[in-house]
Amino acid sequence: MQIARVNRIKEFDGQKVQLNGWVYNSRRSGKIGFLMLRDGFGIIQCVVVKNDLGEEKFEDFKRLTQETSISVIGTVAKNDRAPGGFEIQTEDFTIIQLSDGYPITPKEHGTDFLMNKRHLWLRSKRQHAILRIRHQIIKATRDFLDSHDFTLVDTPIFTPNACEGTTTLFGTEYFGETAYLAQSGQLYGEANAMAMGRQYNFGPTFRAEKSKTRRHLTEFWMVEPEITFCDFEENMQWAERMVEYIVRQVLENRQNELAVLERDIAPLEKIKAPFPRVSYDECVEMLQKGGFDFEWGGDFGAPDETFIAEHYDKPVIVHRFPSQIKAFYMKRDPENDKLALGMDILAPEGYGEIIGGAERESDYNTLLERVEKENLPKEDFEWYLDLRRYGSVQHSGFGMGIERVVAWICKLPHVRETIPYPRMLGRLRP
Ligand code: 4AD
Ligand code: MG
Repeated sequence: MQIARVNRIKEFDGQKVQLNGWVYNSRRSGKIGFLMLRDGFGIIQCVVVKNDLGEEKFEDFKRLTQETSISVIGTVAKNDRAPGGFEIQTEDFTIIQLSDGYPITPKEHGTDFLMNKRHLWLRSKRQHAILRIRHQIIKATRDFLDSHDFTLVDTPIFTPNACEGTTTLFGTEYFGETAYLAQSGQLYGEANAMAMGRQYNFGPTFRAEKSKTRRHLTEFWMVEPEITFCDFEENMQWAERMVEYIVRQVLENRQNELAVLERDIAPLEKIKAPFPRVSYDECVEMLQKGGFDFEWGGDFGAPDETFIAEHYDKPVIVHRFPSQIKAFYMKRDPENDKLALGMDILAPEGYGEIIGGAERESDYNTLLERVEKENLPKEDFEWYLDLRRYGSVQHSGFGMGIERVVAWICKLPHVRETIPYPRMLGRLRP
């Protein structure tokens, strides 16, 4: 007998199969029982008829508890009224392990309770849908870059360097000197790009941000393309095309999951490149006209970002920020030395920054000056300066936070549900 999986069930129409999984729930109506079987790939209804299975087996059916592991044998049959359009006419089943007192019941639980049971919560329909969409987003990201001749090159997690400022570093003394967990793989990504032409690094990144917000994690996943012979404008085009591709792939392949989340897909259908571009200066004007107490030179907070993004129904690219609020590696605007060629992409629907990127400073002397001005330890940046000593070229790149994109596409209220095991202020377990 064949072992079937729920997501492939229509290939087994009319056949007798075995299904292995867990009891999502079960109910009875007289001599007929309905078992919702969850096998990890999907959920299917198994119909259990007392007269077919006999008295004893039907008594066993009554013992089934939520999340009991079980093997079911039965015939696959079309049923338009069953969820998914198919059901199993059960002939036999074997209990593998009877689950006792599964803590997550269909009643409402608080988020904190569910977060503490995260290892089990992942089995629920909604979390399952989010994880599948997360997977699709990562796959689409990689497919997009792979198909444009980017090479995936991994970057280290322990590093002596700060990439995005010294205030959010996690240090460890294991190496006999302070090593930091990577805030970004970008600096290594630049070295990789000089070797490969186009590269992306993709891994976990760490920020010791003491802020508790619905957008911040302590540990999150970032994908960072880095492109040689690429100017500021081309960099923005790569970013918007990638976002467009990701959204389209989710719409095409994850309709069921979006439906489970009750996600209104109309706003997602509008996500087509090119995205509007607006300068930092224009944003300041927009904010001031909108009654915000915002001065030129400041960084946008979440309410500022939301207000700016509300003007558009696509992601908006904010470009040319004051260099004083941006990282040391960003190239200055040749037309205005006070500005950096940095850009942020703000998602619609109040999700804020999903991408940050820049054209990189490629001149040795200018970069050295920047390192010294920011009091960065020059010895540790020698290798990075080498990239400007030996065949420096114009190059650009950006970083996209996976969890921010998942939160937006799934329209979740908080990033904590976008990652299997969130790490944030006050959350280390499970
Ligand atoms: O804007 P950030 O700090 O940029 C960099 O790290 C660059 N080195 C990237 C590059 O150019 N290669 O971070 C990039 C993205 C943000 O736009 C956001 O999506 C995400 O990473 N991000 C976070 N996501 C969750 N929690 C946090 N604490 C995040 N900090 C940044
Ligand atoms: Mg940023």
